[in-house]
Amino acid sequence: MSQATLRTDRITLVPLSDEHLEHEIELDADPEVMRYLGNGRARSREEVEVLHRRRLAVASRVAGLGFWAGLVDGEFVGWWILEPPTRTDQGPVEGQAELGYRLLRRRWRQGLASEGARELMRHGFEDLRLTRIFAETMAVNTASRATMSAIGMQHTRTFHMDWEDPLPGSHLGEVEYAISREQWLAHRAGTP
Ligand SMILES: CC(C)(COP(=O)(O)OP(=O)(O)OC[C@H]1O[C@@H](n2cnc3c(N)ncnc32)[C@H](O)[C@@H]1OP(=O)(O)O)[C@@H](O)C(=O)NCCC(=O)NCCS
Repeated sequence: MSQATLRTDRITLVPLSDEHLEHEIELDADPEVMRYLGNGRARSREEVEVLHRRRLAVASRVAGLGFWAGLVDGEFVGWWILEPPTRTDQGPVEGQAELGYRLLRRRWRQGLASEGARELMRHGFEDLRLTRIFAETMAVNTASRATMSAIGMQHTRTFHMDWEDPLPGSHLGEVEYAISREQWLAHRAGTP
């Protein structure tokens, strides 16, 4: 199955492509967006061009998974991802995906990250038959953790990684949140 185009009330989620590169560059050029990511600083155009190619390559690893650009009224607002696990401690590739999201700062706090993430969860469990979706972030990334909780994921572990250039707050570790298909079905049934 190739990567699907998905829709929510406000967002159209389209598979990431070359036409989104300039938006990715704008996103990663904002130091506030990048505060808890990578080296914790804005990225150059050249750095994002390299990452863009890696992002596109995710779609060829497991059918149906990949990056999605989110458009509201035809305008790019950010990207979402469902990616197969990349480290052994994340568990098997089969049946699993890691959820992620990154939005332009002017689009924060409008319920968009959670709206897009809910649709990716539905797509993952219903259409792609995943059994578990997880997400990771720095323990100090309050906004990301709040989004994970808002969509029904639960904190499953706190762990420590060996970073070459640790960011402020990294001594508190990384957190994993997760939701199984059964938990998602129960959560959905309880949601009006
Ligand atoms: C994380 C991020 C995507 C959240 O996007 P958003 O569109 O503002 O999130 P939403 O509006 O959907 O909010 C989801 C929930 O998180 C809460 N939330 C969002 N930002 C918050 C913050 N800074 N502090 C506390 N709660 C926050 C919202 O209140 C909402 O909770 P509720 O549904 O219980 O009311 C956005 O802040 C971002 O792009 N950050 C930079 C990139 C990043 O760190 N990505 C995650 C990497 S793992």
